[in-house]
Amino acid sequence: MTPDLSVEVGAVRLKNPVLTASGTFGYGLEFLPFMQLSELGGIVTKGLSPKPRQGNPPERIVETPAGMLNAIGLQNVGVDAFLAEKLPALRAHDTAVVANVFGETEGEYVEVCEKLDGAPGLAAIELNVSCPNTEAGGMIFGNDPAALAKITRACRRAARMPLWVKLSPNVTDIRETARAAEAEGADAVSLVNTFVGMTIDVARARPVLANVSGGLSGPAIRPLAVWMTLQVRRAVGIPIIGMGGIMTARDALEFILAGATAVQVGTANFVKPRAAVDVAEGLASWLTQRGIGSIRELVGTLR
Ligand SMILES: Cc1cc2nc3c(=O)[nH]c(=O)nc-3n(C[C@H](O)[C@H](O)[C@H](O)COP(=O)(O)O)c2cc1C
Repeated sequence: MTPDLSVEVGAVRLKNPVLTASGTFGYGLEFLPFMQLSELGGIVTKGLSPKPRQGNPPERIVETPAGMLNAIGLQNVGVDAFLAEKLPALRAHDTAVVANVFGETEGEYVEVCEKLDGAPGLAAIELNVSCPNTEAGGMIFGNDPAALAKITRACRRAARMPLWVKLSPNVTDIRETARAAEAEGADAVSLVNTFVGMTIDVARARPVLANVSGGLSGPAIRPLAVWMTLQVRRAVGIPIIGMGGIMTARDALEFILAGATAVQVGTANFVKPRAAVDVAEGLASWLTQRGIGSIRELVGTLR
């Protein structure tokens, strides 16, 4: 018996619950030498802004104990080039394509969402709200429930297609921002984005990253992310896409048991380009070994 790995994140049907996380998998096409994209439940693109961006100068990525810090600075091709060049090529592959979106103003978020809305071959939009709001003195949109509600409302008006809001873990109580996203019509929440941190080159007495701080990801954050998934599961009714340090199927199961319908694999792609495919295959084996017919039977079943 082949187990059923398919899941539904609201209206988005995924053949398996494993997607690749934004910023760790380019636009998907870069990974064609390593896999068929159809082996994945879906891919989430690098964050898209109205105009192309170069990102930060180096150093902008550094390995840390059980993880990495990055300060890429949201380098991307811009939404127009994505729609003209990347999405048409992605469409040929049988996998769900999710566009990750960010902006420095509400107007920028709305502009990108309007352009993406209904684009053929696009399954959903994921809002990266971990971005400084230049109109509000650099306050991070996603770190304040009221600001998150406002940006979600504006994007909800701008796009009819499935809208996922990706939550920042750099908050006192993630349930508040999850509830704000749900109240403003998000179809799902994804969590978590990276934790802000830094590392210092002690010999030079300088920050390692040119940006000083960066986002921590990888196994180092997994227990924090699993706990946040459980908290959000108890606070909202919309589906959850869980992530943070997933390297193996066992890790993915932690998020699924805590309440995630689907998961994303990020930092693991830097170690092994096929990591997400291995996670999906590992989930299938796990179900087969235990005689469980569908992965959906496990979602949120933590005792
Ligand atoms: C190099 C790098 C770039 C990232 N870029 C984005 C991005 O553009 N948008 C976004 O929402 N998250 C971005 N993230 C966050 C990841 O999508 C993910 O939320 C985080 O890394 C936790 O998952 P992981 O531990 O499996 O990597 C980035 C992460 C890394 C490591």
